[in-house]
Amino acid sequence: MYKGLIEKYKRFLPISDKTEIVSLLEGNTPLIKANNLKKILNVNFDIYLKYEGLNPTGSFKDRGMSMALTKAKEEGAKSVICASTGNTSASAAAYSARAGLKCIVLIPDGNIAFGKLSQALIHNAKVIAINGNFDDALKIVREISEKLNIVLVNSINPYRIEGQKTASFEIIEDLGDAPDYNFIPVGNAGNISAYWKGYKEYRKNNLSTKLPKMMGFEAAGAAPIVLGEPIEKPETIATAIKIGNPASWKSAEEARDESGGVIDVVTDEEILSAYRMLAKYEGIFCEPASSTSLAGLIKYINKKDFEIEKNTKVVCILTGHGLKDPDNAIKNSDEIIKIKADIKEIEKIINF
Ligand code: F0G
Repeated sequence: MYKGLIEKYKRFLPISDKTEIVSLLEGNTPLIKANNLKKILNVNFDIYLKYEGLNPTGSFKDRGMSMALTKAKEEGAKSVICASTGNTSASAAAYSARAGLKCIVLIPDGNIAFGKLSQALIHNAKVIAINGNFDDALKIVREISEKLNIVLVNSINPYRIEGQKTASFEIIEDLGDAPDYNFIPVGNAGNISAYWKGYKEYRKNNLSTKLPKMMGFEAAGAAPIVLGEPIEKPETIATAIKIGNPASWKSAEEARDESGGVIDVVTDEEILSAYRMLAKYEGIFCEPASSTSLAGLIKYINKKDFEIEKNTKVVCILTGHGLKDPDNAIKNSDEIIKIKADIKEIEKIINF
């Protein structure tokens, strides 16, 4: 029986035999081969989608939160705090409930997807909406956590990165080796740093023979790393990555530089187009921010001065589930047909 990622990968994680593990059996997510997209995009390499939306609260944050809450509990903490664009708060709330700890979350008012908000609330977190953005919220929780001795569970917490690196282990195990390219959305930049750490650890232990190029993508209106300076008012439809001053900025650049990859931007239009393609052609529903990885891949397929070699393996990380953000799904689909309950009328419409 699968017992969660800490149990599975404990030899790579900072726990002892005595550690009481806080888990909802996160991880072990599928790596789905995208043959329809391969055909549509007319490429001669294989595309795989790491569907992280299938974690217990619907995003990759659960990997890190299992570790963060396990350690917070071990260290005797009574409460945890985080700032969030939504997914971190949903995950922190659920894992705190599981661990029996109090959870406080700060969110930018009006700027988080409804599904995520509902999760934080139903798991009984204290939800505080501020009239500021994610970066303002992060600044505040950093201060509060120090002042009031509450454990911070944003990805500045090193245990978060430890948990999240296990996604790379799973990819290597599924493919039999590391992929050649790893496309991934970049927001606060913890996840790209975590994946890179995971790939390096398996390589070092001879559990893989190579390292992938890390291909990170920010949304065009929220691209501080690409611009080289913080953005005061980031803007993007992909609210999960609407961040102007990422905490793991430096380690994201290291991942890019050490791997020979890139950090680049994709526009909201490109993000939404990839979002619809995943749903329409592969049956995979992820949230807009997640499709940044596929949008990045499509951008690089179309780039004249860039070539992804034949027969290589490309992985796109799909970080969160589409059900988190039903509003965007409906806005980006055909309209519902509303007519009276009459068979003849309906037959006329479905007359293919
Ligand atoms: N994709 C989704 C769905 C996210 O929720 C996030 C981050 C990212 C990608 C980017 O990951 O921050 O490690 O670079 N969400 C955070 C949150 C900020 O509060 O839920 P990152």
